[in-house]
Amino acid sequence: MKILVIGSGGREHALIWKLRESQRTKEIYCAPGNAGIAQEAECLPVDPGRPQEILGLAQRLNADLTAIGPEAPLVAGVVDEFEREGLAIIGPTRAAARLEGSKIFAKQFMQRHQIPTAGFAVAEGFEDAVKAVDRFPLPVVIKADGLAAGKGVVIARAREQAVRVLDQFMRQRTLGDAGRRVVIEECLTGEEASFIVLTDGRSILPFPPARDHKPVFDDDQGPNTGGMGAYSDDSILDARRRSEILRRIVTPTLEGMAAQGAPYRGFLYCGLMLTDDGPKVLEYNVRMGDPEAQPLMMRLRSDLVEILLALRQSQLGVIEARWSPNPAVCVVLASAGYPGQYGTGKAITGYEAAEALGGVKVFHAGTRFVDHQLVTSGGRVLGVTAVAESLPTAIQRAYAAVRKIRFEGMHYRRDIGAKELERLPRGAKGARSPKADPSRPARPTRPKSGNFSRPKL
Ligand code: AMP
Ligand code: GLY
Repeated sequence: MKILVIGSGGREHALIWKLRESQRTKEIYCAPGNAGIAQEAECLPVDPGRPQEILGLAQRLNADLTAIGPEAPLVAGVVDEFEREGLAIIGPTRAAARLEGSKIFAKQFMQRHQIPTAGFAVAEGFEDAVKAVDRFPLPVVIKADGLAAGKGVVIARAREQAVRVLDQFMRQRTLGDAGRRVVIEECLTGEEASFIVLTDGRSILPFPPARDHKPVFDDDQGPNTGGMGAYSDDSILDARRRSEILRRIVTPTLEGMAAQGAPYRGFLYCGLMLTDDGPKVLEYNVRMGDPEAQPLMMRLRSDLVEILLALRQSQLGVIEARWSPNPAVCVVLASAGYPGQYGTGKAITGYEAAEALGGVKVFHAGTRFVDHQLVTSGGRVLGVTAVAESLPTAIQRAYAAVRKIRFEGMHYRRDIGAKELERLPRGAKGARSPKADPSRPARPTRPKSGNFSRPKL
């Protein structure tokens, strides 16, 4: 088969790395890709925001299957274009992608279908938005309605901050049209979890749970980023929690979308807050998560091409996906200044030595080659990902690999997965906390889960 993947991040590198393992993959292409992807697939230029360009590329390549990494092409209707031409693609249609493309749509949809989520108000104008803020306790969450590349959500701790953000979004239009309308939302507390499923609209293939680390600095300090690291371990959501999420969130979401004439196919990512009142949806994403895809792909033992073909043939309910029981951890290495302004073109060294460590894969995001030298070309540069028989060992392995890599201004979080370790019973699995760098306060323990099982719709 000829497979085309659209995107250029660590997520796409991880997907390609996994797709390439399949016996069925004869040729694999990525557009636009990055330097790491270029070592595993042929990279071609494309503007991911232009569905017509993506379609044209797939037609020229005669691709048997196209997988879309980021949300922008999905929200812009790339799947509709492919379907019109009878070309195979993985992802939701434009109508279904509104679950991510419009936060107002998503919140009203959840409200209609009694899917647990934070209380909210929709505001169309600045004055209304300020009035809405006054109806919520502080802190209050402000969300731009449209896609904003991770910059559209602010947790305002004071009223003045809320008003300032509303002014920026709605009057100054700092996010363009995305901030014309907003959602004002109750601030939830608890631990977050990323619950990702693949669905053909009828049956569901849930992936093991994962957890992202969004704020830029250790201990969740500083502004949000696209994700500074993630880990996947079954203990994030035990079997009971997973079936509760499938029953109360995923199934009603798919049934609700089908009922309103927009059946959902593809990856569905539920960003959850695990509150004292149970799991609540913070957001939907209509694609795989990044960085979550990196540890998840390292745990996947089944053939990803077979899984995607099963989705195409509406056979997801009859195939089995095998996962390593071992946890995996991804630490993102970022450019100085990220998530704000950052420079590029910094020489990267040590990545080969990092990958030479067993159980480690270095996924590329913002990288390119200049005269045979690997250099930085984005905010998130590399995703150093390790798998091991226990979470402490996976964390140690990932950080051992990180320490081999250098580029000017490189920064990363030193506490990826650390909170989970504090929940493990004392002395569990015989490894010390990798958080020998900084130390963390103890947290209450939570029981470890049983095996990961797969229910159907
Ligand atoms: P989003 O871009 O919608 O994923 O939101 C980014 C991050 O903002 C989430 O991962 C949460 O950390 C945080 N967040 C979003 N909504 C809420 C909420 N209602 N309460 C608390 N935190 C939230
Ligand atoms: N990891 C968060 C996201 O993919 O949006």
